[in-house]
Amino acid sequence: MKLFIDSGNIKDIETLCALGIIDGVTTNPSLLAKEPGDYKENLKKICAIVKGPVSGEVISTEYEGMLQEGREIAKLDEHMVVKLPLTRNGIHACKTLSNDGIRVNVTLVFSAAQALLAAKAGATFVSPFVGRLDDIGQTGMDLIGEIVQIYDNYDFETEVLVASCRNPIHIVDAAKMGADICTCPAVVIDQLFNHPLTNIGLDKFLKDWEKAYPSGK
Ligand code: E4P
Repeated sequence: MKLFIDSGNIKDIETLCALGIIDGVTTNPSLLAKEPGDYKENLKKICAIVKGPVSGEVISTEYEGMLQEGREIAKLDEHMVVKLPLTRNGIHACKTLSNDGIRVNVTLVFSAAQALLAAKAGATFVSPFVGRLDDIGQTGMDLIGEIVQIYDNYDFETEVLVASCRNPIHIVDAAKMGADICTCPAVVIDQLFNHPLTNIGLDKFLKDWEKAYPSGK
């Protein structure tokens, strides 16, 4: 399973990419709006760091506007992926841009029916938001299971990009279900490293070593 960072923060992206475990980045208008500097320059910098798919979202809600913005986003860098919302215009624009060879990530997906439309429209990625479903009392991960099954039934090539991941359980469950990608904030990726027994075990190994070899040799 691939791991993406859901962030527009260059420092967080640099720090995690340096570890060699990050395959791509997703952004959205809310995330990019928080960062200083020109958002297009920031997206180019992110592409240079991650050297993998970087999603940048259109702001327009009209078909023609989505096409124009989408083409501009795609031209920023070979790694750019155009993020389009799951609306009628978004699906129409997804089909057109995908036919032109531009990779699209269909976002704000909250049902299996919507995910089916994204695949039919040739999306490279579909982004179901599990955390936001949990927030309204539905089990977001159930949707991932449904989408993986539907895509497998018909060999759709659209990759399931689990979005709005809020904790390590979302990530582990996504991996068990065979989802292609999880995108998570840096803080959630940091949580993947933690286990108290690792810290306790390492502490004991080092203390035992220190007792046997006080000089550190
Ligand atoms: C995905 O591409 C979105 O940017 C993101 O995962 C949304 O997450 P949130 O629901 O935590 O804002």
